Amino acid sequence: MIRLAGVGHVYSQGTPWARRGLEAVDLSIGRGDGLLVAGANGSGKTTLAWILAGMLVPTEGVAELDGEPLHQAGPRAALAFQHARLQLFRPTVGQDVAFGTPMGDPEVDDALRTVGLDPVEVRDRRIDALSGGQQRRVALAGLIARRPELLVLDEPFSGLDAEGRATLVEVLGRLRTSGLSVVVVSHDYEDADRFADRVVVLESGRMVFDEPTAEALHDGRLFAALEEAG
Ligand SMILES: Nc1ncnc2c1ncn2[C@@H]1O[C@H](COP(=O)(O)OP(=O)(O)OP(=O)(O)O)[C@@H](O)[C@H]1O
Ligand SMILES: [Mg+2]
Repeated sequence: MIRLAGVGHVYSQGTPWARRGLEAVDLSIGRGDGLLVAGANGSGKTTLAWILAGMLVPTEGVAELDGEPLHQAGPRAALAFQHARLQLFRPTVGQDVAFGTPMGDPEVDDALRTVGLDPVEVRDRRIDALSGGQQRRVALAGLIARRPELLVLDEPFSGLDAEGRATLVEVLGRLRTSGLSVVVVSHDYEDADRFADRVVVLESGRMVFDEPTAEALHDGRLFAALEEAG
């Protein structure tokens, strides 16, 4: 479904400030697949996330969804930002989830329940009256309600407590079962086998590790790869 071939990106290309963010990445992601993208700060994870979500056009290579450029995929690919507050625009939870769609209250409530929020409790609350973890879930509810085929999440676990994290892992598993492809960008690979069937590690913009999660977690192989890439 999604195919990246020789994908690279140079920020501010052709200027004295040119800076490489990604290099020679080959990757395929199928329907319902779960991929964890790990790597140190500055290794290119967010650059890859933005390309996969169609929000950044790579300066090199081919990035496609069913043969069409990813940046023309529109709502078929969605990105959950690292800072969820940046993608919440309306004053209340219910208004935000429904924003720009013909969704009525029942659909909004369904979307909130999907991410483990109680609609009665949060639907009419102001976004700024929610905790960071709750805001993250509202943003996710809004994205899921638009029925993307690929959901990319940039550091979705940061700032979540153990319960919030467990809920999110469970939600991601359920979404994958329904056919959604999920890409999680995270430093944190604890129980990665519960949301990803494959792990890749980036180092200085290059993919230096690509293995099924079970093998990656076996014998600390992923840990070693991350240490080395560190
Ligand atoms: N808008 C930009 N302009 C110029 N260079 C950028 C820009 N965004 C990222 N870079 C550079 O591209 C490289 C990859 O950055 P990226 O944000 O993808 O890394 P990351 O793995 O997401 O890091 P982190 O773990 O800190 O979020 C870094 O060297 C970074 O400085
Ligand atoms: Mg990043």
